[in-house]
Amino acid sequence: MAIIAPSLLSANFTNLGKDCKMLNNSNADWFHLDVMDGRFVPNISFGPMIVEAICNTTEKYCDVHLMIEEPEKYAEAFKKAGAHNLTVHFEACTHLHRNIQQIKSLGMHAGVAINPHTPIDSLKDILKEIDLVCLMSVNPGFGGQSFISHTLNKIKQLKEMINEQLLNVKIEIDGGVTLENAASIIDAGADVLVAGNTVFKSKDPIATIAALKSI
Ligand code: DX5
Ligand code: ZN
Repeated sequence: MAIIAPSLLSANFTNLGKDCKMLNNSNADWFHLDVMDGRFVPNISFGPMIVEAICNTTEKYCDVHLMIEEPEKYAEAFKKAGAHNLTVHFEACTHLHRNIQQIKSLGMHAGVAINPHTPIDSLKDILKEIDLVCLMSVNPGFGGQSFISHTLNKIKQLKEMINEQLLNVKIEIDGGVTLENAASIIDAGADVLVAGNTVFKSKDPIATIAALKSI
């Protein structure tokens, strides 16, 4: 069974408390929180203050996806905000190894996200240092985009690399996950499904989360 991580990027920002409560009453395993800086990605979302407000509403695992440059400047603030995992982008970090060490030394799990154009091979030397790889299945910055099907090949390649190195690294898929494609994503080897629009734009988000969980 996959870990289901609804993305609050698609929640109702004028009533975030209600959506957090809904997730708390659902089968969702994690909260996925998307932080965007308007530099690494062409959109701005929210920062540590909102992450803290959201984390304070829940006992669930808070998975913070940083789509920002210079994440080292904010790692401590996100730890204080209540993040359990910090994922940084391969493409945004010149000193990725150092970024990962910092996140771990702050007592959080560490993830690395890669954009659709970045090959799995790029992860080879960092894989044993991290807890999670977030494979972007859309170009980061916006919710509601379509799943890039080549991601399925990347999941299989990554799974092989993880098994070869005998590691325990989770594969998270972020972008365009739907009730229709979730089974093929899990079959390919994914452990965590992020879902924004599929959950929050559905008529019955709790039922949609349950349906994703049952796949
Ligand atoms: C996109 C974000 C995603 C986004 C997914 O840059 O990283 O987490 O919220 O949204 P959907 O599931 O609607 O594609
Ligand atoms: Zn995300």
